[in-house]
Amino acid sequence: MSLDIEKLRADTPGTQAVIHFNNAGCSLPVKETIDIITEYLQLEATLGGYEVKNKYENIINDFYSEAAELINAGKDEIAIVSNASDGVNKILHSIQWKAGDVLLTTEVEYGNCYLNYLKLKEEKGIIVKIVPSDHDGNILLKKMEEMISSKVKLIAVTHIPTNSGLIMPAEKIGNIAKKHNILFLLDACQSVGHIPVDVKKIQCDFLSTTSRKYLRGPRGMGFIYARKEILEKLKPSTLDMVTAHWKDADNYALDCNIKIFEQWEKSYALLLGFSKALSYLNNLGVENTWKRIQYLSTYLRSQLEQTGGIEVTDIGKEQCGIVTFSVAGIDSEKLVNALLKHGINLSTSLRFSTVLDMDKRGLTGVCRASIHYFNTKEEIDILVEKVEQFFEFVMSKK
Ligand SMILES: Cc1ncc(COP(=O)(O)O)c(C=O)c1O
Repeated sequence: MSLDIEKLRADTPGTQAVIHFNNAGCSLPVKETIDIITEYLQLEATLGGYEVKNKYENIINDFYSEAAELINAGKDEIAIVSNASDGVNKILHSIQWKAGDVLLTTEVEYGNCYLNYLKLKEEKGIIVKIVPSDHDGNILLKKMEEMISSKVKLIAVTHIPTNSGLIMPAEKIGNIAKKHNILFLLDACQSVGHIPVDVKKIQCDFLSTTSRKYLRGPRGMGFIYARKEILEKLKPSTLDMVTAHWKDADNYALDCNIKIFEQWEKSYALLLGFSKALSYLNNLGVENTWKRIQYLSTYLRSQLEQTGGIEVTDIGKEQCGIVTFSVAGIDSEKLVNALLKHGINLSTSLRFSTVLDMDKRGLTGVCRASIHYFNTKEEIDILVEKVEQFFEFVMSKK
């Protein structure tokens, strides 16, 4: 199916106002998403929050089918969380760790994940081991296999990191995890909605993602996947009356299902918005949108590579819609602020969010242009022209 870009842009009011290359930060929603959220809030205000929810129960439940369809899961394997970090934490802290257990991870982990690996190290005495990557950022899978022992309890991997165009070979890592019967957690915060993600092909036990980025949903929502067969081995870090039943002064009972990760109270307005965003993407087909993202990001990389003073800083053999670069002699934040004045949204990726990778590469910050399918070649040409002009201006002052 070919995408009707004009229609897609007309569906997205933000495209009329800004040139948005910050989709890995927070993308622009479609009008339908914004409308359903505001309509539902109006109904809550006029009819009562609980009363409206009862009426909308069926539509609310559609969320689970849409999320499940997108990643090829069962709808009883999907739970709503507040964001991707919340999801990763709920998963990490529901695993029954013993001192000496090993968590194998990668060089490109996101801060909020790695900080919690360190917390488990501090509190439970686990050992965190990092699987090295080669000079170009490709994970050394042979080395990963060599690092496997009976002590390895979890392989935790970032699918697409925040600070480069790299795509981790999730299916190959899944094969290793499966072969050795080790739990596999995929931080798919930047990948779901961006590239095709199929939990059955990847063979992960857990996945966590967020609404506001490539899924184009509202802020403050995310979802996790947990393989049904794994649930009985988990103990949620906190209890909620969704699945925990308070019997008396000393006892409770717990249902063993995916809802152990959910809380009773949530924003149904946002949930409906998230559901709309998912169904919009399912209708377009992520295979189609991914092709367009690949086309545009390849074009952007080639344009940047031909421009004096610019270095593309992406790593890895497989690359995605996140394009990172640095401009000689210019601080990344300065450049991003200058572009903002021209109505072009970019972001910086700074050391603190991916310490291991940034230190390995001697980087303190990079500019990040994250492409979505609604972007255009013309927008990319404007971006490259403005970056070039800014570089020439700064050089002329030196
Ligand atoms: C790779 C990666 N993982 C996890 C997160 C955390 O996502 P959230 O802010 O939704 O918790 C981010 C956020 O940028 C990220 O880029």
